[in-house]
Amino acid sequence: MKKTLVVTTSLLAVVALLAFGAWVYMKTAMYGFSARAEPSRVEAMLAGYARETAMPASARAMKNPIAFTPAVHQEAMAHFADHCAVCHANNGSGDTMFGKGLYPKPPDLRLARTQNMTDGELFYILENGIRMSGMPAFGGGDSTDDSWKLVYFIRHLPQLSAAEETQMESMNPKTSEESEEDKAEEQFLNGGAPSAPTTTINHMKGHSK
Ligand code: HEC
Repeated sequence: MKKTLVVTTSLLAVVALLAFGAWVYMKTAMYGFSARAEPSRVEAMLAGYARETAMPASARAMKNPIAFTPAVHQEAMAHFADHCAVCHANNGSGDTMFGKGLYPKPPDLRLARTQNMTDGELFYILENGIRMSGMPAFGGGDSTDDSWKLVYFIRHLPQLSAAEETQMESMNPKTSEESEEDKAEEQFLNGGAPSAPTTTINHMKGHSK
């Protein structure tokens, strides 16, 4: 008699738990899957903690092996404009169409959250990406030099000048429509002569151009 009572109570408890789970799931399915939302503080905290724990201590301590030169700066700036600005914006603010539609959103790279990371941490993120976020991994192949150069550029973002930002605009990937317009303009300037084939960057090749 007592045994049946225990079994019945346990069964009822399981059913109640399942029903509660289903209710939470439905609630989330109805309201919670939009990437337009901002992660809650608890979610951001847990994700931040998971990221910190997952990063090997050896990565944190890595030093930039590339010597900084104006040419390295130029190269990294062009690279950022081409591969990163679509989400992060040329100035690193993250205020872009793609950036605003991601969950979590790209943070403002000029602020303490990013700038307080070590060079090694930044490098590790560029090479490995951030799981369950829009931040892609750019590592693999011969990407390491490119990533270290980008680390310098991320450090420079808080001091980016207006002139540099303008320069970057001409380095941003173009839509096919813009390329067509450019071609037409070039043809016009050449007096209608067919233009030389324009070089296009193959974005599928990934990090290193
Ligand atoms: C498709 C969009 C996208 C592209 C392209 C992209 N990122 Fe990100 N990035 C993100 C998102 C989203 C995050 C935030 C992830 C998070 O909060 O966990 C992020 C995070 C970062 C961070 C960590 C900042 C922090 O404070 O947590 C760095 C550094 C970074 N990106 C640099 C770059 C660089 C450099 C490139 C180009 C080589 C790049 N990203 C390309 C979306 C992108």
